[in-house]
Amino acid sequence: MASVRIREAKEGDCGDILRLIQELAEYEKLAHQLKISEEALRADGFGENPFYHCLVAEILPGPGELQGPHVVGFGLYYFVYSTWKGRNVYLEDIYVMPKYRGQGIGTQIIIKVAKVALDKGCSQFRLAVLDWNQKAMDLYKSLGAQDLTEAEGWHAFRFEGEAMRELAER
Ligand SMILES: CC(C)(COP(=O)(O)OP(=O)(O)OC[C@H]1O[C@@H](n2cnc3c(N)ncnc32)[C@H](O)[C@@H]1OP(=O)(O)O)[C@@H](O)C(=O)NCCC(=O)NCCS
Repeated sequence: MASVRIREAKEGDCGDILRLIQELAEYEKLAHQLKISEEALRADGFGENPFYHCLVAEILPGPGELQGPHVVGFGLYYFVYSTWKGRNVYLEDIYVMPKYRGQGIGTQIIIKVAKVALDKGCSQFRLAVLDWNQKAMDLYKSLGAQDLTEAEGWHAFRFEGEAMRELAER
């Protein structure tokens, strides 16, 4: 029987990671905003000072199965800093292909991120979810995460594109 392995991504996984990022963007109905390329993922994740880290979930074939290992999910994270709590991990994306959902793979990725956070001396890890994605919110809550919008009223903001350029030129 096939089994699942969660492992750190290698540079050679960037094509698979891009494919899964695209699937997630479509799921989130925001694919029109996607600009990332495989080259950028390679350069930004696997250079001297990586901007991000990534875990991949890989299906390992069982004995006698012909297909080789294949990547069916990922969790991409990076380190940020909280002025209140110090070291902190931000889980930017988590995704498992539809066919492989509901088998604990997403939970295994989240557990691994928690382990990385603890290993690196972080006191928390954060993530954001769209307000209609109730299933994902239920999963995070069931694993012990707190909804910061509900509990404390936080809103997420960003400066982007023209707004950021105009700001920088002031
Ligand atoms: C959220 C996600 C990563 C969870 O991965 P997973 O491998 O299915 O998770 P697990 O098997 O460990 O946990 C299963 C739970 O996830 C929940 N879940 C969350 N989103 C789901 C989805 N789109 N489809 C099916 N189950 C989903 C299920 O309700 C299930 O709960 P249950 O066991 O009480 O029925 C995965 O479902 C997914 O990629 N969803 C679409 C993309 C997404 O929402 N990403 C998160 C953006 S913030």
